[in-house]
Amino acid sequence: MKDLSTLRSDFPMLKNNPELIYFDNGATTLKPQVVIDAVTDFYTTHTSNVHRGDYAIAALNDRLYDEARSSFAKLLNCEAREVVFTHNASASLNQVIYGLSHGFLHEGDIILTTEAEHASNLLPWFRLVKEAGVEVKYLPMNAQANVDLEAAKELFTPRVKVVAVAMVTNVLGSILPIKELSALAHEVGALTVIDGSQAVPHMKVDVKELGIDFLACSAHKMCGPGGVGILYGRYDLLEAMEPVFMGGDMNARFDAGCGYELKHAPTRFEAGTPNIEGVIGAGAACEYLLQIGLDEIHAYEKELRSYFMEQMKQLSNIQVYNPDNEYGPITFNAEGVFSQDAAGYLSARNIAVRSGNHCAKILHEIIGTDSTIRASLYFYNTKEEVDACVAACADITLENAIGIFF
Ligand SMILES: Cc1ncc(COP(=O)(O)O)c(C=O)c1O
Repeated sequence: MKDLSTLRSDFPMLKNNPELIYFDNGATTLKPQVVIDAVTDFYTTHTSNVHRGDYAIAALNDRLYDEARSSFAKLLNCEAREVVFTHNASASLNQVIYGLSHGFLHEGDIILTTEAEHASNLLPWFRLVKEAGVEVKYLPMNAQANVDLEAAKELFTPRVKVVAVAMVTNVLGSILPIKELSALAHEVGALTVIDGSQAVPHMKVDVKELGIDFLACSAHKMCGPGGVGILYGRYDLLEAMEPVFMGGDMNARFDAGCGYELKHAPTRFEAGTPNIEGVIGAGAACEYLLQIGLDEIHAYEKELRSYFMEQMKQLSNIQVYNPDNEYGPITFNAEGVFSQDAAGYLSARNIAVRSGNHCAKILHEIIGTDSTIRASLYFYNTKEEVDACVAACADITLENAIGIFF
């Protein structure tokens, strides 16, 4: 296994904050210099719009924008025309769900999802419960958000039209059996909508191998800039899908009689001026990750997490909620201490973690609390940082935690 922490020097945030222990990678990741350069170069040497200009700089940006699409196609093992750029994973999911609600879903149809989902993969469905009369059902899960596949099989009836789940859950880091769920979905004529936000940055995700229909993720969680979402969609499904936004560039023609014709996917889903610099930066991030290797990233993080978890399990004041999962964040509470106070205490020791419900507001149905601390890792984190965090966690007491506020 490669020691990926040697890549720390690629990240100016780490150089500029030598004391910082950044364990909030599930929320967003730090950006390497190549990504910062790609965005800065756009502003300083080749600013223009895309797909509209007939001059050299515009052609350069057309090429860089389209190359970013090809980079993500390589990352996900799909065709470039199956990659749509949106604004974030939430926008990607909303696009799919809106699209499916126009023509594919009908009253009484069932959406299978889980209680461990992020708001972005629940609320758009909940709206369809209200507006379209679809029904949401939850796949059975254990206390660490792992799906019980055998028990789940019973839920797959012909009324199921969509299986919408995260590949890796954002609080407990459980990995869902996506390939198996896809096969079950397809057997009953349902489609799969996979939230890849916490998977794509950390492991190889091959959409063809998994047999999935749609996948959403965000560039900012994988070393890229903010404001760029990625939506993979099977091409025939994209071609049949209604876009959320209508406007410039995505139309082939329209007339005074209100007739219009849309361009083919993916352009039909990218109305208006896109986040050009963001997409170009996202392409640089994607190439950066491909160069490191997603299998290497996964193996490194898995080992670091296991090193972290083994120590956290030994702390008598700490309750860990996902001790048996092999991957993802360490999610915990310190006995008798409100999670935000504990996070404040860790912050006073330069450790950045997230506290609260992490946008998974029905996960309490599974873990019995809606307030936890989440320490989420990436490949630039180190064992030394883990040691410092464990030592700080061992000291979290109510007295210490509230002491920092007085
Ligand atoms: C599992 C999961 N889905 C969706 C999202 C939403 O991502 P974004 O805020 O980039 O739209 C997140 C962000 O935390 C997430 O963890």
